[in-house]
Amino acid sequence: MDRNIRRMAAFFADATCRLRPHFKAHKTPAIARRQLVAGSCSGLTCATVSEAEIAAEVCDDILIANEVVDPNKCARVAALARRVRMTVAVDSIEGLEAVGRAAATAGATVGVVVDVNVGQMRCGVSPGGDVLRLARRVAATGGVELRGVMGYEGHVVSVPSRAEREAQGRAAMEGLVDSARMLRADGLPCELVSAGGTGTYDISGRVPGVTEIQAGSYVLMDTDYGGLDLPFEQAFWVMGTVISRPTATRVVADCGHKSTTKDHGLPRVRGLQGASVTSLNDEHATIAVPPACGLQIGARVFLIPSHTDPTINLHDVFYVLDGETVVDVWRISARGYPEHRGAVDSLLDPS
Ligand SMILES: Cc1ncc(COP(=O)(O)O)c(C=O)c1O
Repeated sequence: MDRNIRRMAAFFADATCRLRPHFKAHKTPAIARRQLVAGSCSGLTCATVSEAEIAAEVCDDILIANEVVDPNKCARVAALARRVRMTVAVDSIEGLEAVGRAAATAGATVGVVVDVNVGQMRCGVSPGGDVLRLARRVAATGGVELRGVMGYEGHVVSVPSRAEREAQGRAAMEGLVDSARMLRADGLPCELVSAGGTGTYDISGRVPGVTEIQAGSYVLMDTDYGGLDLPFEQAFWVMGTVISRPTATRVVADCGHKSTTKDHGLPRVRGLQGASVTSLNDEHATIAVPPACGLQIGARVFLIPSHTDPTINLHDVFYVLDGETVVDVWRISARGYPEHRGAVDSLLDPS
């Protein structure tokens, strides 16, 4: 993990483009602190308000690269904006007004970037005129401050061929950078042009005009990104125990999809020649092994998850290894729905 953090920081060290690591990948302040200390960072990216509330413990410049529209959540963003520099994405007048109202009520200024659909077909307005129209509206709204544009090329980050990824990544960034140019030509501020993920950090991160990259998975990695030509190493595993070996070629461990997700495919087995996970149930990983494999009941197995973010969201802590020694335990404090914890406690125990 430390090597991954150093490599990413080094890539941006001499660049005008900065790194804004995505906190959603690990939800762990102890890791975010290391990313910030390594340098080259403009701040942190978050996906949710509750992540931002926890990330604000370690960082004073946070982008929620996502739409926030619920009045209570907007009020929480505004409250945060009184303590740290907060920026949120908007792609609608409704969303913009909700953020503006909350900011004005709190006496805060919330930064806004217009979310641009650069081809992922998720949130975001179309590049060009639609961005300019919404940006003008932002500039005319109280409580908010226009800071620029963002556009996440999520449809490109996992494209296996490097040449294809480069071509599609550059094409996606064209619409974003052109939109930024239109804003500036119109006299509007556009300090942030935020984009990028682990699969495109060195593509979008070298497109002139892109000011920061929101990569997150590079810190810990997974099999999905491990299949690409990236300079990052697998740095976390889910440990399980063999609970059954019904046949010479079938082993069952106690780590199912309640401990490692399968939305990006089945996990792999670390360091066991010829072993592969054949299925995951709630609490079971079924693993095919060669008959000569020495795994016995009670032995530990380590799975390499296929998707970092949702797997980590299933766990309370990281056991931190230096080599084979556990040297620390880090709380994954933004996992789940941390904002509900206090409310649930008082519901269950009103005294
Ligand atoms: C808005 C946004 N930015 C950036 C990322 C980059 O994440 P990763 O490093 O996992 O590619 C994501 C991932 O889903 C995202 O949703």
